[in-house]
Amino acid sequence: MKKQKNSVFKYWRQYKWSNIFAMMRNNRGNPSICSEDFTGDLLVITGATSGIGYYTTRKYASHGARVLSINRNREKSERLCEELQQDFGVECSYLIADMSRMDDVKRVGKELSDMNETIDVLIHNAGVYLTRKSLTEDGFETTYAVNYLSSFILNYLLKEKLKTQDRSRIIMVNSEGHRFAVWGIKPDDMNWQKRRYSGLRAYGSAKTAQLLSMLIFNDFFKGSIVTINAMHPGAVKTATGKENSRLYRRFKNLIIDKMSRSPDISAEALYYLGVSKEVESTSGKFFNLTTEEKPAPPALDREIAERLWSVSLRDGGFDDGKL
Ligand SMILES: NC(=O)c1ccc[n+]([C@@H]2O[C@H](COP(=O)([O-])OP(=O)(O)OC[C@H]3O[C@@H](n4cnc5c(N)ncnc54)[C@H](OP(=O)(O)O)[C@@H]3O)[C@@H](O)[C@H]2O)c1
Repeated sequence: MKKQKNSVFKYWRQYKWSNIFAMMRNNRGNPSICSEDFTGDLLVITGATSGIGYYTTRKYASHGARVLSINRNREKSERLCEELQQDFGVECSYLIADMSRMDDVKRVGKELSDMNETIDVLIHNAGVYLTRKSLTEDGFETTYAVNYLSSFILNYLLKEKLKTQDRSRIIMVNSEGHRFAVWGIKPDDMNWQKRRYSGLRAYGSAKTAQLLSMLIFNDFFKGSIVTINAMHPGAVKTATGKENSRLYRRFKNLIIDKMSRSPDISAEALYYLGVSKEVESTSGKFFNLTTEEKPAPPALDREIAERLWSVSLRDGGFDDGKL
C-alpha cells in the first residue's frame, strides 16, 4: 500500500500569507446587518443557554422567530423560554440533550426529523474548549464529541427531511481556531489516543472536522433548497472555557475577555447568514462573521474528508455507510 504522505509537507505549500492577512483584517471587521423579517419561522439552535447561542436566540426572537432550542440544562432552558415569551411574545420550546452523549443526540435528531414542521434555520452552536483531555460516557474525546460529532449526527439524521422542505439553512458555528490543526487532522485518532493532547489542537481538529463534513454534506444538498455554511462568530466574551482550571479562567478573565468583543456581533452575523436574501443560495462556504473566507488547507482536503466521513458514520453508529 502506498505510504501516506507526511501531512506536514502535504499542506505546507498550500498555506498563503494572503489568506492569513485576510483573516486578520476580517477579525477587525463588523458583520453585515439583515433587517429582513423572520416572523413565524422556526429557528432550531443548540446551546442557546449561554454566550453566542443566547444572544443569537434573542436576536431571532426579536424578529419574530419561533424558537426550538436544544440544551443540556432544563432550568436554564425554562428561563430562556420565559424570557423570550415575556420580551418578544414569541413561541419557545426546548429539547434536553447532552451533546456529549450520542444517545441524547440521536434521540433529538429523530424527534426533529419526525416533527411535522419546517426547520427554516438550524444552527449548530453548542461547543466547548477543554485544556485537559476528557472522555465522554461513550468513550469519545469530549471536544470531538460535542464540537463535531453531535453536529454530524444531527445533520445526518435531518438531511432527508430538510431536502423535502421549501427552504432550509444550516449554519455551523465554527471558528478561526480550526487553523490550530496546522498539520491537518487524523481521522484514525480523533480521540487523541496516539498523540499528545492539547486543548488548542483538539479544538482545531474538531472544528476542522466540521468543515470537512461540510464538503460532503454540501455535495449531498446540491440541487436542493438546503444550504450549509460555517462561520467564525468573532472573538467574543462568553462563558467558554468555564470547565477549565482556575488558572485558565483567571487568565481568560484578565487577558482574553479584555480583548474580546460582545456576542452581539455573533448574533448579527448568524441572523444575516440565516435570513438575508443576499446569501440565499450560498452554500459550502466559511465566513468570518459575514465575510466569506478561505479556510485553512487541511479543512479543504477531500481525501481526508472522505476518511473522516467513514469514521463519523462508525462513531455515530450508522452502519449502512450510505450518505
Ligand atoms: N467565544 C468565542 O470567542 C468563540 C470563538 C469562536 C468560536 N466559538 C464557538 O461558539 C460556540 C458557542 O460558544 P460560546 O463562546 O458561546 O460558549 P458558552 O458561553 O460556553 O456557550 C456554549 C453553549 O454550548 C452549550 N454546551 C456545552 N457543552 C454542551 C453539551 N455537552 N451538551 C449540550 N450543550 C452544551 C452550553 O450549555 P450550558 O449553558 O449548559 O453550559 C452553552 O449553551 C462554540 O461552538 C464555540 O466553539 C466561540
